[in-house]
Amino acid sequence: MAGRKKCVIMGTGSYLPEKVLTNFDLEKMVDTSDEWIVARSGIRERRLAADGQITSDLGVPAVRVALEDAGVAAEEIDMLIMTTITPDMIFPSTSCVVQSKLGLPNAACCDLNAACTGCIYSIEMGRHLIEGGNYKRVLVVGAEKLSAITDWEDRATCVLFGDGAGAMVLGPADDDKGIVDIYLGANGEWGDLLFMPAGGTLNPASHETVDGRMHYMKMLGREVFKHAVIEMARSVEIVLERNGLTIDDIDCLIPHQANIRIIKALAKKIRIPVEKVFVNLETRGNMSAAALFVALDEANKSGFVKKGDRVILVGFGAGLTWGAGLIDW
Ligand code: COA
Repeated sequence: MAGRKKCVIMGTGSYLPEKVLTNFDLEKMVDTSDEWIVARSGIRERRLAADGQITSDLGVPAVRVALEDAGVAAEEIDMLIMTTITPDMIFPSTSCVVQSKLGLPNAACCDLNAACTGCIYSIEMGRHLIEGGNYKRVLVVGAEKLSAITDWEDRATCVLFGDGAGAMVLGPADDDKGIVDIYLGANGEWGDLLFMPAGGTLNPASHETVDGRMHYMKMLGREVFKHAVIEMARSVEIVLERNGLTIDDIDCLIPHQANIRIIKALAKKIRIPVEKVFVNLETRGNMSAAALFVALDEANKSGFVKKGDRVILVGFGAGLTWGAGLIDW
């Protein structure tokens, strides 16, 4: 790393669609209750994109806010990495669509799929582009229209998810602040715990796949829960250990926002006081790849994360994938 500059998060942004879907609304759609949803997940309401408002439309306003926050012009962006499991189309990449809607004339574009861990994966890719020196301004964006792949007849999944988007601008640091370390992991053996069966080459779209409701996400919630706690705790411990830190050195933990019980179990396992843990899922639901971006933007803008804080981001998702990042804010 001699001579190389650290990568810093120059600015953050997020966007949530206007429509609110409450647990009471869900009570009218499936056999569930506000009480059950709050007790099992901590979620009270989530945002839903409007009809015709697609994933790129969610990403664009989030990017505008992040560019302004960073004080960076659209022309300066030389790479756009977009992370989503709900792309506008299978191809071209949604990053190219966002580029065309925003006008980012000098940006190379690609999509990255690590499901809910997409934020940490894309920051890791982006920061190495910056640290390598060839890229000066990398935009990383997470946007999801999960309502488009949610089975609104499946009470076990439809109560958990929401739509939204977040973004950040990465660039070289002026001082020693910035992204210190990121650990990433995956295990494809657990792919069938959370997946969407049709729409790819395994099950191309057909009458049968539509009739079989195969274009919606499927989940074994209890299994995902178990792996989530174990792998997120392990990720945090790896990052702490290889940087010679203990959990007491951490000012703020920003976890993936899937379920309050997962977050509490994680906090207990790694022994971090809950006051240091950022939570917004009560009004957001799980926004997959967008969730950590939005959480980071809200933690940043609300003052929950302050300059000089030592922050850990941690997440998990379909794949299964997981990871943790250490940032000197
Ligand atoms: N309303 C009311 N009852 C529901 C329900 C709903 N929305 N969804 C499921 N149930 C029922 C089940 O049918 C089951 O009934 P049964 O005991 O009669 O069979 C009962 O509630 C318990 O279901 P179970 O799945 O064991 O509950 P749980 O305590 O594991 O909670 C989740 C379910 C999905 C909330 C929880 O497993 C979870 O959050 N898992 C992780 C999911 C996740 O985060 N995924 C995203 C990864 S990024």
